[in-house]
Amino acid sequence: MQAGPKQSISEKLRRRFGDANKFLVLTGAGVSAESGVPTFRGGGGTGVWKGLPFEVISSAGMLERDLPAVWEWFNYRRGLLEALKPNPAHEAIAGWQDRFRDLTLVTQNIDGLHQAAGSREVIELHGSIWRARCVQCDERQSVREMKVDDGEPMCLACANPMRPDVVLFGEMLPVGAFERAAAKAASCDLCFVVGTSAVVYPAASIPEIARAAGAYVVEVNPERTPLSDFSDEVLTGNAGNILPLLG
Ligand code: APR
Repeated sequence: MQAGPKQSISEKLRRRFGDANKFLVLTGAGVSAESGVPTFRGGGGTGVWKGLPFEVISSAGMLERDLPAVWEWFNYRRGLLEALKPNPAHEAIAGWQDRFRDLTLVTQNIDGLHQAAGSREVIELHGSIWRARCVQCDERQSVREMKVDDGEPMCLACANPMRPDVVLFGEMLPVGAFERAAAKAASCDLCFVVGTSAVVYPAASIPEIARAAGAYVVEVNPERTPLSDFSDEVLTGNAGNILPLLG
């Protein structure tokens, strides 16, 4: 993942950043890449596990067929995450929350690294690998308080099986999460899109909603995406190098 040429921040962006009232930040796997979390499509991929492509093992169909296998897969991924720490990109975003009157952080990531960096209110569009949810009553529980390494844990409220509280392929987003993010996008004046390939919807529609509402859209990514031509500014490089430049 070679960083682009030394990126500098334009005067225009410094002004927009300084004057922003309502600021929305959308992040994807790339914001965690420098922490060691493999991305899905940027070549650092977690492509195949036990012969199954991740789109299969991470799918609603797999949950129906073999919930213990789905737990095993997420236990494996959580094991990878255990030792990983937030990077300067997460820290920069966490630092912004006390600087802006209205900062909304929306993430597609399930790794919890934004919260580990100190971000308080994070709209998790795809759920969290650190939570479980009852398949029957929707009761949620932190996996840190549960025994999850021998088959599927049971719900303390209704004794039905619990599942990882992560949005799987073929599933809807958590109720209200996208709606809250879209409402904030429709009223923001600055929108940063950091480390996403912008191909997975409805998350990828958030910068489109912001732009249509007149926001200044800035993409941060070492590679071009379908969003690049659409953005007001593209900052080419690694988020961990670029976001701290904004102070
Ligand atoms: N800084 C910024 N961007 C980076 C960095 C970095 N250090 N390293 C990689 N990237 C960029 C890549 O160039 C790529 O465009 O991050 C993007 C990661 O894209 P994906 O792997 O497709 O991840 P994401 O966009 O978050 O995927 C969306 O798809 O698989 C599902 O549910 C999963 O939430 C995920 C969703």
